[in-house]
Amino acid sequence: MSRPLAAVILAAGKGTRMKSDLHKVLHPIAGRPMIEHLLASVQALGAERIVVVVGDRREQLEKALAGRVEFAVQEPQLGTGHAVLQAKQALAGFDGDVLLLSGDVPFIRPATMRAMLDALHGGADPAAVVLGFRPLDAAAYGRVVAGPDGRVARIVELRDANDEERAIGLCNSNLFAVRSGDLWTLLEGVGNDNSQKEYYLTDIVAIGAAAGRATLLIEGDAAEAIGPNSRGDFALAEAAWQSRRRAEAMAEGASLIAPETVWFSFDTRLGRDVTIEPNVFFGPGVSIADGARIRAFSHIEGATIGAGAEIGPYARLRPGTIIGEKAKVGNFVETKKARLGAGAKASHLTYLGDADIGAGANIGAGTITCNYDGFFKYGTVIGEGAFIGSNSALVAPVSIGAGAIVGAGSVVTRDVEGDALAVARGAQEVKPGWAARFRAAMSAKKKAG
Ligand code: UD1
Ligand code: MG
Repeated sequence: MSRPLAAVILAAGKGTRMKSDLHKVLHPIAGRPMIEHLLASVQALGAERIVVVVGDRREQLEKALAGRVEFAVQEPQLGTGHAVLQAKQALAGFDGDVLLLSGDVPFIRPATMRAMLDALHGGADPAAVVLGFRPLDAAAYGRVVAGPDGRVARIVELRDANDEERAIGLCNSNLFAVRSGDLWTLLEGVGNDNSQKEYYLTDIVAIGAAAGRATLLIEGDAAEAIGPNSRGDFALAEAAWQSRRRAEAMAEGASLIAPETVWFSFDTRLGRDVTIEPNVFFGPGVSIADGARIRAFSHIEGATIGAGAEIGPYARLRPGTIIGEKAKVGNFVETKKARLGAGAKASHLTYLGDADIGAGANIGAGTITCNYDGFFKYGTVIGEGAFIGSNSALVAPVSIGAGAIVGAGSVVTRDVEGDALAVARGAQEVKPGWAARFRAAMSAKKKAG
């Protein structure tokens, strides 16, 4: 039977180690603010209440999360234990399980959270369940002092730890599962007698133990418990996320020729038999259908790519791009809010913005849709099977009918009907012998003096 679940997410701290104007939990990993990764997991778990404790730069979080969570304010910020206590009022009357999470520990899997809640009701009647992990480098994480029976005696912060405790490899992720009926009592016992004079959430373990209540330990893997505090930590967290995602992409049937050079977004979707060449970057909102090939050095965001399409090398697809089946976007082509129908091709050196391009159309090298007059944006429509000659400027709003041909070097300012030829450039003039006469006259002049 599932019990009511609430989540308290701590995000009031100053994040001093980031040296940033942007709130720490809004710094992105895999193209998504860190706290959003956590929110998605908590929502997947079915939490009926989500309270985010805010303080420092709270306006940033109130804006980013408006309407999706409840807020409790911690002012001033006196430590993680004091922070959780600020959610007491918001959760008055709530009776169920509470997960205590940190906004800066974003990758805990829902399955791990579920295992902790199960352990909380596993029969031993623990006061709390804590998630521990063993990172390669225990760094400044709090150390979990556990007895041989797997019960946690206490958690000690590095700066308060003695040499023996510092040598412990088991670290505190700061994720706790506690019953609402126990939580507030435990927190009321937390003092600030430590090197930072802060009220530490971690002290609830020793407080429970003193009252004869155990804290159970669940060990998670280091990748999910990572808690970045500095720019360096963020880079490591990003690298860890990317390497997991690459492995998953390959396991699901995509070929990555040099996986370590491909950067995914949190929501990149890949079909089967997609091939990704080296040095490709995906921003948010990309989905790629079966059999498409993304060639080297392409930068892609907000784009839907059809089956069997070929993109790049060196393509830039910007938000609102829709590439049809077997269409081709070649080198140094930029698209924005552009649809290319099935089999359409823009093979070289082109800008397509606010454009709708029919199936099978061929966009010659150097074609530019002139979509902006400095004030407003305008659309270009190119019909099926149309052929746009190289180095043409299509001045929007303009439409080129199906099957029409635009002569190379044209500046098209008026609509072109289907199957017509439009040429809009200076007519070619040829003067036989003129160059030879010119050279003769000029060299004679130079010799004369
Ligand atoms: C905390 C844990 C540490 C653990 C680590 C895991 C404590 C005392 N220490 O340390 O044992 O190994 O997380 O990543 O809890 N916050 C508030 N109000 C405050 C202080 C902090 O809301 O007054 C929030 C922060 O915004 C942050 C989270 O609590 O989201 C954790 O705070 P942080 O300062 O990062 O603690 P750590 O030093 O990482
Ligand atoms: Mg932290």
